[in-house]
Amino acid sequence: MEPTITPIDATLGATITGIDLADLDDIEWRRVEDAFHEYAALVFPAQNLSAEAQVAFSSRFGDIELLRPDPDHKAVSISNQKPDGDVLKPEEHRYQTLRGNEGWHIDSTYMPLAAKAGVLTAKVVPPTGGETELADMRAAYDALDEDRKARIEDLSAYHSLYESQAKIGHIVETGAGYGYHTKGAPLRPLVRTHPTTGRKSLCIGRHAYRIPGLDDAEAQSLLDDLIEFACQPPRTYTQNWQPGDLMIWDNRCVMHRARPYDFSETRIMQATRIAGDPASELAPTDRDERASGFEPSASNR
Ligand code: OGA
Ligand code: MN
Repeated sequence: MEPTITPIDATLGATITGIDLADLDDIEWRRVEDAFHEYAALVFPAQNLSAEAQVAFSSRFGDIELLRPDPDHKAVSISNQKPDGDVLKPEEHRYQTLRGNEGWHIDSTYMPLAAKAGVLTAKVVPPTGGETELADMRAAYDALDEDRKARIEDLSAYHSLYESQAKIGHIVETGAGYGYHTKGAPLRPLVRTHPTTGRKSLCIGRHAYRIPGLDDAEAQSLLDDLIEFACQPPRTYTQNWQPGDLMIWDNRCVMHRARPYDFSETRIMQATRIAGDPASELAPTDRDERASGFEPSASNR
Protein backbone atom coordinates (compact mmCIF):
# COMPACT_ATOMS: atom_id res chain seq x y z
CA MET A 1 0.00 0.00 0.00
CA GLU A 2 1.39 3.37 -0.97
CA PRO A 3 0.43 6.16 1.47
CA THR A 4 -1.12 9.27 -0.10
CA ILE A 5 -0.21 12.55 1.59
CA THR A 6 -2.57 15.42 0.76
CA PRO A 7 -1.69 18.84 2.18
CA ILE A 8 -4.57 20.65 3.89
CA ASP A 9 -5.46 24.10 2.52
CA ALA A 10 -3.80 25.96 5.41
CA THR A 11 -0.22 26.67 6.48
CA LEU A 12 -0.21 23.41 8.45
CA GLY A 13 -1.60 19.93 8.19
CA ALA A 14 -1.87 17.03 5.79
CA THR A 15 -4.24 14.11 5.44
CA ILE A 16 -2.70 10.68 5.00
CA THR A 17 -4.64 7.78 3.52
CA GLY A 18 -3.61 4.38 2.21
CA ILE A 19 -1.85 3.47 5.45
CA ASP A 20 -2.69 1.26 8.44
CA LEU A 21 -1.29 2.84 11.60
CA ALA A 22 -1.77 -0.44 13.45
CA ASP A 23 0.68 -2.11 11.07
CA LEU A 24 3.39 0.34 9.99
CA ASP A 25 6.59 -0.82 8.37
CA ASP A 26 9.77 1.21 8.75
CA ILE A 27 9.47 2.89 5.37
CA GLU A 28 5.92 4.00 6.11
CA TRP A 29 6.98 5.18 9.55
CA ARG A 30 9.73 7.32 8.01
CA ARG A 31 7.16 8.89 5.65
CA VAL A 32 4.89 9.66 8.59
CA GLU A 33 7.70 11.16 10.65
CA ASP A 34 8.91 13.32 7.76
CA ALA A 35 5.36 14.51 7.09
CA PHE A 36 4.92 15.27 10.81
CA HIS A 37 7.92 17.58 10.69
CA GLU A 38 6.90 19.20 7.43
CA TYR A 39 3.17 19.71 8.09
CA ALA A 40 3.15 19.82 11.95
CA ALA A 41 -0.23 18.05 12.06
CA LEU A 42 -1.48 14.90 10.38
CA VAL A 43 -5.00 13.54 9.97
CA PHE A 44 -5.51 9.82 9.37
CA PRO A 45 -9.17 9.15 8.58
CA ALA A 46 -10.91 5.95 9.65
CA GLN A 47 -8.07 4.24 11.50
CA ASN A 48 -10.24 2.98 14.39
CA LEU A 49 -7.19 2.28 16.55
CA SER A 50 -7.66 0.47 19.84
CA ALA A 51 -6.09 2.07 22.91
CA GLU A 52 -3.17 -0.39 22.66
CA ALA A 53 -2.61 0.34 18.96
CA GLN A 54 -2.75 4.10 19.58
CA VAL A 55 -0.19 3.75 22.37
CA ALA A 56 2.05 1.69 20.07
CA PHE A 57 1.79 4.25 17.26
CA SER A 58 2.35 7.16 19.68
CA SER A 59 5.39 5.41 21.15
CA ARG A 60 7.10 5.65 17.75
CA PHE A 61 7.43 9.37 18.46
CA GLY A 62 8.84 9.00 21.96
CA ASP A 63 7.92 8.17 25.53
CA ILE A 64 4.29 8.50 26.51
CA GLU A 65 3.46 11.31 28.93
CA LEU A 66 1.19 9.83 31.58
CA LEU A 67 -1.99 11.86 31.98
CA ARG A 68 -2.84 9.80 35.06
CA PRO A 69 -0.35 8.51 37.59
CA ASP A 70 -0.99 4.99 36.34
CA PRO A 71 1.38 3.36 33.86
CA ASP A 72 -1.39 0.95 32.79
CA HIS A 73 -3.41 3.84 31.36
CA LYS A 74 -1.23 5.39 28.72
CA ALA A 75 -4.30 6.20 26.64
CA VAL A 76 -6.98 8.16 28.44
CA SER A 77 -10.49 9.15 27.61
CA ILE A 78 -11.18 12.85 27.17
CA SER A 79 -14.92 12.85 27.53
CA ASN A 80 -17.92 14.55 29.05
CA GLN A 81 -19.30 11.11 29.85
CA LYS A 82 -18.51 9.57 33.21
CA PRO A 83 -17.88 5.85 33.76
CA ASP A 84 -21.47 5.51 35.06
CA GLY A 85 -22.80 6.83 31.71
CA ASP A 86 -24.00 10.23 32.98
CA VAL A 87 -22.63 13.38 31.40
CA LEU A 88 -20.62 15.86 33.48
CA LYS A 89 -22.41 18.76 35.16
CA PRO A 90 -21.09 22.33 35.37
CA GLU A 91 -20.24 22.07 39.05
CA GLU A 92 -17.90 19.13 38.43
CA HIS A 93 -14.16 19.61 38.22
CA ARG A 94 -13.80 17.62 34.98
CA TYR A 95 -16.50 19.73 33.32
CA GLN A 96 -14.44 22.83 34.04
CA THR A 97 -11.26 21.29 32.64
CA LEU A 98 -13.13 20.35 29.44
CA ARG A 99 -14.41 23.92 29.18
CA GLY A 100 -10.81 25.03 29.68
CA ASN A 101 -9.80 22.92 26.64
CA GLU A 102 -11.99 25.24 24.55
CA GLY A 103 -9.39 27.98 24.97
CA TRP A 104 -6.36 28.03 22.65
CA HIS A 105 -3.50 26.23 24.35
CA ILE A 106 -0.35 24.21 24.04
CA ASP A 107 -0.38 21.01 26.10
CA SER A 108 1.55 20.72 29.34
CA THR A 109 3.33 24.08 29.05
CA TYR A 110 2.47 24.50 32.75
CA MET A 111 4.47 21.37 33.57
CA PRO A 112 8.27 21.59 33.77
CA LEU A 113 8.44 19.22 30.77
CA ALA A 114 6.02 20.23 27.99
CA ALA A 115 4.70 17.63 25.54
CA LYS A 116 6.15 16.79 22.14
CA ALA A 117 2.86 15.88 20.51
CA GLY A 118 -0.80 15.14 21.13
CA VAL A 119 -2.77 12.31 19.55
CA LEU A 120 -6.56 11.97 19.48
CA THR A 121 -8.87 9.30 18.10
CA ALA A 122 -12.54 10.19 17.91
CA LYS A 123 -14.66 7.48 19.52
CA VAL A 124 -18.05 9.16 19.93
CA VAL A 125 -18.80 12.58 18.45
CA PRO A 126 -21.77 14.88 19.02
CA PRO A 127 -24.03 15.64 16.02
CA THR A 128 -22.77 19.23 15.83
CA GLY A 129 -19.78 21.04 17.36
CA GLY A 130 -17.00 19.28 19.21
CA GLU A 131 -14.46 19.83 16.44
CA THR A 132 -10.78 20.27 17.28
CA GLU A 133 -9.09 23.35 15.90
CA LEU A 134 -5.36 23.76 15.28
CA ALA A 135 -3.28 26.89 14.71
CA ASP A 136 0.20 27.04 13.20
CA MET A 137 2.58 28.93 15.48
CA ARG A 138 5.43 28.76 12.93
CA ALA A 139 3.41 30.65 10.35
CA ALA A 140 2.12 32.98 13.08
CA TYR A 141 5.64 33.94 14.06
CA ASP A 142 6.65 34.40 10.42
CA ALA A 143 3.63 36.67 9.83
CA LEU A 144 4.49 39.09 12.66
CA ASP A 145 5.86 42.45 11.54
CA GLU A 146 9.47 43.21 12.40
CA ASP A 147 8.54 45.58 15.27
CA ARG A 148 6.44 42.93 16.97
CA LYS A 149 9.15 40.29 16.44
CA ALA A 150 11.69 42.61 18.04
CA ARG A 151 9.36 43.43 20.94
CA ILE A 152 8.85 39.80 21.93
CA GLU A 153 12.25 38.39 20.98
CA ASP A 154 13.63 38.36 24.53
CA LEU A 155 10.39 37.97 26.50
CA SER A 156 9.33 34.87 28.42
CA ALA A 157 6.05 33.99 30.12
CA TYR A 158 5.14 31.92 33.14
CA HIS A 159 2.66 29.13 32.44
CA SER A 160 0.16 27.80 34.96
CA LEU A 161 -2.96 25.64 34.79
CA TYR A 162 -4.11 27.15 38.07
CA GLU A 163 -4.01 30.60 36.44
CA SER A 164 -5.62 29.55 33.15
CA GLN A 165 -8.50 27.84 34.95
CA ALA A 166 -8.86 30.84 37.27
CA LYS A 167 -9.29 33.04 34.15
CA ILE A 168 -12.47 31.07 33.32
CA GLY A 169 -13.69 31.22 36.92
CA HIS A 170 -12.54 27.77 38.00
CA ILE A 171 -10.49 28.10 41.14
CA VAL A 172 -8.69 24.88 41.98
CA GLU A 173 -7.19 24.09 45.34
CA THR A 174 -3.46 23.53 45.17
CA GLY A 175 -2.69 19.86 44.81
CA ALA A 176 -5.98 18.95 43.08
CA GLY A 177 -4.21 16.73 40.56
CA TYR A 178 -2.38 16.87 37.27
CA GLY A 179 -0.59 20.14 36.82
CA TYR A 180 -2.54 22.23 39.31
CA HIS A 181 0.07 24.06 41.25
CA THR A 182 0.62 27.70 41.96
CA LYS A 183 4.31 27.37 42.73
CA GLY A 184 6.96 26.14 40.38
CA ALA A 185 5.46 27.73 37.27
CA PRO A 186 7.66 27.11 34.21
CA LEU A 187 9.09 30.16 32.45
CA ARG A 188 9.08 29.73 28.66
CA PRO A 189 10.37 32.06 25.94
CA LEU A 190 7.61 33.52 23.72
CA VAL A 191 9.72 32.71 20.69
CA ARG A 192 11.08 29.22 20.42
CA THR A 193 13.10 27.25 17.92
CA HIS A 194 11.96 23.81 16.84
CA PRO A 195 14.54 21.18 17.82
CA THR A 196 14.24 19.29 14.50
CA THR A 197 13.28 21.81 11.83
CA GLY A 198 15.00 24.89 13.32
CA ARG A 199 11.87 26.96 12.56
CA LYS A 200 10.87 29.66 15.00
CA SER A 201 7.38 29.65 16.48
CA LEU A 202 5.29 31.37 19.14
CA CYS A 203 4.90 29.69 22.51
CA ILE A 204 1.74 31.33 23.84
CA GLY A 205 -1.77 30.13 24.75
CA ARG A 206 -4.10 30.34 27.70
CA HIS A 207 -1.68 28.89 30.25
CA ALA A 208 0.75 31.82 29.74
CA TYR A 209 -0.07 34.50 32.29
CA ARG A 210 2.85 36.67 33.39
CA ILE A 211 5.87 38.18 31.69
CA PRO A 212 8.85 39.24 33.79
CA GLY A 213 9.58 42.90 33.09
CA LEU A 214 6.01 43.84 32.14
CA ASP A 215 3.17 44.64 34.48
CA ASP A 216 0.49 41.96 34.57
CA ALA A 217 -2.18 43.89 32.64
CA GLU A 218 0.26 44.80 29.88
CA ALA A 219 1.51 41.21 29.73
CA GLN A 220 -2.01 39.79 29.51
CA SER A 221 -2.98 42.19 26.76
CA LEU A 222 0.17 41.38 24.77
CA LEU A 223 -0.51 37.65 25.19
CA ASP A 224 -4.17 38.06 24.20
CA ASP A 225 -3.21 40.11 21.12
CA LEU A 226 -0.71 37.46 20.04
CA ILE A 227 -3.30 34.67 20.33
CA GLU A 228 -5.84 36.74 18.43
CA PHE A 229 -3.36 37.47 15.62
CA ALA A 230 -1.90 33.96 15.51
CA CYS A 231 -5.15 31.99 15.32
CA GLN A 232 -6.46 33.35 12.02
CA PRO A 233 -6.70 31.80 8.56
CA PRO A 234 -4.67 30.60 6.72
CA ARG A 235 -2.95 29.40 9.91
CA THR A 236 -5.91 27.44 11.30
CA TYR A 237 -7.47 24.09 10.56
CA THR A 238 -10.73 22.66 11.90
CA GLN A 239 -10.97 18.90 12.27
CA ASN A 240 -14.57 17.76 11.84
CA TRP A 241 -14.40 14.35 13.43
CA GLN A 242 -15.84 11.11 12.22
CA PRO A 243 -15.54 8.22 14.69
CA GLY A 244 -12.29 6.37 13.99
CA ASP A 245 -10.32 9.38 12.73
CA LEU A 246 -6.91 9.98 14.30
CA MET A 247 -5.09 13.30 14.42
CA ILE A 248 -1.60 14.08 15.72
CA TRP A 249 -0.16 17.57 16.14
CA ASP A 250 3.32 18.78 16.95
CA ASN A 251 2.83 20.43 20.32
CA ARG A 252 6.14 22.27 19.89
CA CYS A 253 4.72 24.53 17.15
CA VAL A 254 0.92 24.07 17.10
CA MET A 255 -1.80 25.42 19.37
CA HIS A 256 -5.15 23.69 19.64
CA ARG A 257 -8.57 23.94 21.20
CA ALA A 258 -11.79 21.95 21.39
CA ARG A 259 -14.87 23.62 19.92
CA PRO A 260 -17.99 23.85 22.06
CA TYR A 261 -20.84 21.38 21.76
CA ASP A 262 -24.05 20.58 23.57
CA PHE A 263 -22.84 18.88 26.75
CA SER A 264 -26.00 16.79 26.93
CA GLU A 265 -24.55 14.92 23.93
CA THR A 266 -21.71 12.46 24.48
CA ARG A 267 -18.23 13.11 23.13
CA ILE A 268 -15.45 10.58 23.73
CA MET A 269 -11.91 11.10 22.50
CA GLN A 270 -9.12 8.58 23.06
CA ALA A 271 -6.00 10.59 23.89
CA THR A 272 -2.33 9.85 24.13
CA ARG A 273 0.36 12.41 24.67
CA ILE A 274 4.02 12.11 23.79
CA ALA A 275 6.50 13.48 26.30
CA GLY A 276 8.86 16.24 25.25
CA ASP A 277 12.58 15.73 24.99
CA PRO A 278 14.11 17.37 28.07
CA ALA A 279 16.82 18.87 25.83
CA SER A 280 14.22 21.17 24.26
CA GLU A 281 10.97 21.01 26.30
CA LEU A 282 12.20 21.35 29.87
CA ALA A 283 11.71 24.84 31.29
CA PRO A 284 13.16 26.38 34.44
CA THR A 285 10.52 27.17 37.05
CA ASP A 286 10.19 30.07 39.47
CA ARG A 287 10.85 27.53 42.20
CA ASP A 288 14.27 26.81 40.66
CA GLU A 289 14.89 30.53 40.52
CA ARG A 290 13.93 30.98 44.16
CA ALA A 291 16.30 28.15 45.05
CA SER A 292 19.09 30.07 43.36
CA GLY A 293 18.36 33.28 45.29
CA PHE A 294 15.74 34.74 42.96
CA GLU A 295 13.33 37.09 44.75
CA PRO A 296 9.91 37.48 43.15
CA SER A 297 9.28 41.13 42.32
CA ALA A 298 5.94 42.84 41.75
CA SER A 299 5.97 41.90 38.08
CA ASN A 300 6.93 38.23 38.31
CA ARG A 301 5.57 37.08 41.61
C1 OGA B 1 -6.19 17.61 24.26
C2 OGA B 1 -7.21 18.61 23.90
C3 OGA B 1 -9.10 18.99 22.47
C4 OGA B 1 -10.31 18.24 22.04
O1 OGA B 1 -6.42 16.42 24.01
O2 OGA B 1 -5.15 18.00 24.78
O3 OGA B 1 -7.04 19.77 24.17
O4 OGA B 1 -10.82 18.56 20.97
N1 OGA B 1 -8.25 18.15 23.21
O5 OGA B 1 -10.75 17.36 22.78
MN1 MN C 1 -4.97 20.05 24.89
